[in-house]
Parts: sequence; structure tokens; C-alpha cells
Amino acid sequence: LTQTTMQRNLRIRGNFVQTPELGDLGILRDHLLVTDDKGVIVIFEPASSQSELTSCFTLPRGQFIMPTFVDTHLHAPQFLYQGNGLHLPLMQWLDEYAFRAEERLDGDPQLARKVYAQLARRLIQFGTSTVLLFGTIKEETNLILADAMKTAGLRAFVGKLSMDMLSKPSYIEPSADASIRAAQSFAEKCMAMNSSSHPHEHLLEPVLTPRFVPTCSDELLSGLGGLAAQHNLKIQSHLAEALDQVDFVRKQRGAEDIDIFDQYGLLTPRTVQAHCTFLNAPSLTRLSNRGTAIAHCPLSNSYFSAEPFPLREALDAGVKVGLGTDIAGGYALDIMNAMRHAVSVSRIREGNHQVAEREQQEETKQSLAINWIEALYLATKGGAQALGLKTGAFTIGAPFDAQQIQLLDSEGNGVGALDFFDLEDGGLTMEMIEKWWCVGERGNRIGIYDEIITSR
Ligand code: GUN
Ligand code: FE
Repeated sequence: LTQTTMQRNLRIRGNFVQTPELGDLGILRDHLLVTDDKGVIVIFEPASSQSELTSCFTLPRGQFIMPTFVDTHLHAPQFLYQGNGLHLPLMQWLDEYAFRAEERLDGDPQLARKVYAQLARRLIQFGTSTVLLFGTIKEETNLILADAMKTAGLRAFVGKLSMDMLSKPSYIEPSADASIRAAQSFAEKCMAMNSSSHPHEHLLEPVLTPRFVPTCSDELLSGLGGLAAQHNLKIQSHLAEALDQVDFVRKQRGAEDIDIFDQYGLLTPRTVQAHCTFLNAPSLTRLSNRGTAIAHCPLSNSYFSAEPFPLREALDAGVKVGLGTDIAGGYALDIMNAMRHAVSVSRIREGNHQVAEREQQEETKQSLAINWIEALYLATKGGAQALGLKTGAFTIGAPFDAQQIQLLDSEGNGVGALDFFDLEDGGLTMEMIEKWWCVGERGNRIGIYDEIITSR
């Protein structure tokens, strides 16, 4: 899976699965998909409508092709200590684990190269082709990160971390001014790393990344807002994440972090804010009006946030929502885990709501629970929209970012943990996809991108 061997001039015949709209599962049986010499989809139609089918690669029975996953929130340096220290509250965990791991990579380029190359390999194994990354403070380490992602052929949005306050003296930027200049310098170097001007081959994009309000001065936030407007740059940060963080900002700034971000022009249609757990209805409406997206990180919320994220309310308010792993606030890199956690957390919310309703005799509203099909949308199309991409579903003119899933082997037996299927006519059913969504694993993924061609 490299940029230079990206899939071009493909002709694939078989079953395709996608969620082009929230709640809408498309099972497109026996379709033909054709890409041009840039890897962009030019034909996607029922095979029966095509007269010329001889030169196709035909998917074996028991397999389908679906869009790859999008991870809208991941701290690349924290991959180093994924799965450790989760007994602490957020603000303490940041001090004792997060800053330490980041500082370590900033001081050891060889280790950074190793950690980031392994992160890229793992993302590919888990079917994630597109990722919005937090990096570290130092430019050199972020260029290593960008290079590792580019070499692996991932679509990566890379954020050089900005913070000029409230960190340890050895891991902080010296002034707001220096921080703003460093953010601009990294953005220029990262953009220059794209070797082609074609959007499908334009895999790297820099992102302005004020860590969160507690570690960023007003001067820094204001400068980054100006930079974003001037150069049309993407922005990412953490918003209303955790109880201790929200309290901290009220004490430190006498304000809500959403108002501070808004004041400095950091809530734009190019912004992705992680978590947003503690936003009320008017704040969700404000994000929707600004076109700002949310990276929903359900596993991380369960550990650090004290409350679940109001996902249904955000979707109803028209906010763009994608899923994030929040490595290492969340310990799991596989977006399939994020999808499953999003559904379980939302079901508990709905259950709690029903209990409260029984006591108060309230009117029944739309369910707060989301289902697996809605979760699949968030992990693919939802995430792509949060990042302003055309990917996430197969449409004419979109880059073909795809993964190949195998449910049955050539003898018709379930692959991996998929033991028993209720097979009616031998064709692909919604129940088979649902079962894969629940208990499928890495072994069911037999290729992404160009591996689809080479596995012929
Ligand atoms: N808020 C500020 N920095 C971080 C971080 O590294 N992880 C999480 N989960 N929240 C943050
Ligand atoms: Fe985070």
C-alpha cells in the first residue's frame, strides 16, 4: 500500500456495501466499479447494465468491498504507551503520561520513526485509510510523522501541536509568537511534501492544532485563528471534553471553551473538535451553524469524560460527526471498536432516558440509541464529511478508498470468528453484514487499496 502503487484503471465486479446517508445501508449486489488512471471512480453500475465484462476482476462469493474507515482523532505519539495509565483522571493523565510520551519522541527521532511507521502499518491492518492526527510540538518530529503516513499511502491530516502555557518547562513553546510562526512553518513544509497536485494523490495536509484551551494563551489562539483564515487551513482541538477540564477552563478563563474558540475564529467549516461531551443544545446548534465537525470518541469518554456524548442530539442538530479512537485516551486503534462502543454507550443513554420517562410520564421522543448501520456511516461517510472529503461512499468522481472483506471461504464456511451464517440463497444479506459488524475481526479484511488488485 504505497502512494505510487495506488489503484488505477481498476475494473472490479462483485458485491459492494456502503452507507451513503445516516441510517441507510446500501448492499449493491453484482455491480461493476471502474476507476480511471488517477484512481477516481468513473463507473459504478449493476453489472447487468454493462456489455463488456470480460476484463473484470470478479470478487469470489462470500466477499464484498466497502469504503475504508476514517479516524477523526488520534494522538500519534501516544501510540507509544497505548493501553497504560487509564486509572487517572484526564488532567492528571495528561501530565503523567501524555506529555511525557510526546516529549520522549521529540527528543528521539529514531524512536519517532519507528513508532510512526508501526502506527501506519497497524492503521492499514485495521482498515483505516484516512486519519486526523495530533503530533508533538517539534517540527522535525511532525515531518517524520507526515513522511511515515505518506510512505504508507495513508490519507493523513497532520497537526503540529501548539501550546504555550501550563505544560512542563521542558515540553512547551517559549511564546505565543514563536508558536504561531512554528505552526506556519510546519504547514508550509507539510504541504510541500505532496508530490502531485491531483487530489487523489494529495495525501498530506497540515492542520492547525491548539491542544485545548487550558494550554493555549489568548494570543496564541487568536494568532492561529488568523492563520487559519489567511491560508484556509484546517483546525483541530479538544472541546468540552471532561468534567475536570470544563471546570478548569471556567476557573482559569472565567468562560466556556466554546466561547473562547468562537471568539478567535477557530470554529470554522474546516474545524474538527474532539469529544464535545459537555455541550448543551444551543452549543450543538452553534457548531452546526459554524459547520464545525465533532470527533466522537466513545471509549475515551467512558474513561475520562464522566458523561456520555449526546450523539443523537448532535446528529439531529445537523452537526457533522465522525468517529475517533483518541489513541491513547482510548486504548483501541481499531475503528470497529469505536463503532461498537458508540452503539453500546448510546443504548445505555436511551435506557436511562426510558427509566426517567417512566417516572416523569414524559412524551416519547426519537431514540437516543444509534444502531450498527448508523455507526458504520459515522466510521466511513461521516468521518469523510467531517474532513471535507469525497470518500466514504462510492460515487462517481470520488477517489476509490476501499477495503475488501471476506465472510466465507471458498467452501462456504465462515472466516475467522464468523462461525455460523443463516444462508438463504447464497447471496450477501444484511444479516451477514450485521454479524461481521459485531464479531468480525482483522482476519476478515483481506486487502485495502491496491492489495485488491494483487490478491487476484
Ligand atoms: N486534552 C488535551 N490534550 C489531550 C490529550 O492528549 N488527550 C485527550 N484525551 N484529551 C486531551
Ligand atoms: Fe484527544
